[in-house]
Amino acid sequence: MNRYSELVSSIEESRTMAVTSLITKLKAEGKNVLSFSAGEPDFPTPGFVKQAAIKAIHENFTRYTPNEGHPPLIKAIVKKFKEENNLNFEEKNILVSDGAKHSIYNMLMALCNPGDEVIFQAPYWVSYPEMVKLAQAVPVVIEAGVERHYKITPSQLEKAITASTKAFIFNTPSNPTGAVYSKKEILALAEVLKNKNVYVISDEIYEKIIFDNEKHFSIGSIDYLKDKVITVNGVSKAYAMTGWRVGYAGGNAEVIKLARNLQSHSTSNASSISQAAAMAALTQTSEEVTVMVDKFKSRRDFIFESLNRVKGIKCPLPKGAFYVFFDVSDYFGSHVNGYKINDSNTFCNYLLNEESVGLVPGFAFGDDSCVRMSYACSMDELQEGLKRITRGLGKLN
Ligand SMILES: Cc1ncc(COP(=O)(O)O)c(C=O)c1O
Repeated sequence: MNRYSELVSSIEESRTMAVTSLITKLKAEGKNVLSFSAGEPDFPTPGFVKQAAIKAIHENFTRYTPNEGHPPLIKAIVKKFKEENNLNFEEKNILVSDGAKHSIYNMLMALCNPGDEVIFQAPYWVSYPEMVKLAQAVPVVIEAGVERHYKITPSQLEKAITASTKAFIFNTPSNPTGAVYSKKEILALAEVLKNKNVYVISDEIYEKIIFDNEKHFSIGSIDYLKDKVITVNGVSKAYAMTGWRVGYAGGNAEVIKLARNLQSHSTSNASSISQAAAMAALTQTSEEVTVMVDKFKSRRDFIFESLNRVKGIKCPLPKGAFYVFFDVSDYFGSHVNGYKINDSNTFCNYLLNEESVGLVPGFAFGDDSCVRMSYACSMDELQEGLKRITRGLGKLN
């Protein structure tokens, strides 16, 4: 007899977190493991943000804030959306939550009824399918392979939509692939959604980590979609604030109201101190973001060129975020020392056990031909990692 919730029992542990825990355990055992599994910037939170939090503590800004967020922060988010994303919201359209993950969860819960379908692409961020299931909806996955640079086409989207479709989760720049959809590509996807009764949850958490003069474009800024798009963002990635847990969503007042109600009975407001810090991040100009993005770009260039020199690896150029997602299926069927490589998991286990290199298997992101490597680490680590990967793969027959 299952004594626990069947719904929650159907959810899997976040696989990226599972890999990170395994690597931490191996390190604690004294192994010189190089981890490329990080889903967070390796830079410290900017000093002016920390100062704002310290000031908030000294000024006793330590009590509950309104459930939906500290009013000045909500104002700052309205301004940010207007100026940077061309999204016209009022205060009633905003909800501040405990990270963008929490914002997406709140929105799915506010939108879905049992049996509704929610579309997203593979490769996808690990939490989408599990959050959709928690909302008692059905995940519908569109495959976007390496040959299309991990982007879906309008006709694929069209085919995936049924009378039961409630929402489409869209993520650019993307985790795990680093793919960035251009304005033109987004307009073409939007055309498909034009006369459909489908909401869009636009996950824009990597908005600022974008390279090669690509411009981030918010799908919610398309006039005919504006009431159907919920735009989610946060401070975790752009300001190296993953531990502070502040994310936010902007959308039509009705769905935001439902999500506010849900949050009022589950977590209430995001930490007051973190909200003060987030406000500094969103309102004060700083060099830190640019410096961080420049560093990510140099690492991206290095890792992209180096990986593509390794026989059997196919790696499209990521245009944003801080991951490379590369196809290793040429190695499937090869073996050495009792290891047989059949899939992304056996590939990653081999490199972890034999070369002490931690990569995340692509099956965690819905693409078993690939693996994800984060470059949120030092150049020295990347160089040493590349050496180990090349050596390990060179031994396979
Ligand atoms: C695509 C994507 N969306 C949302 C999040 C959640 O970010 P947070 O909850 O830290 O704001 C992440 C974090 O890894 C992510 O990769």
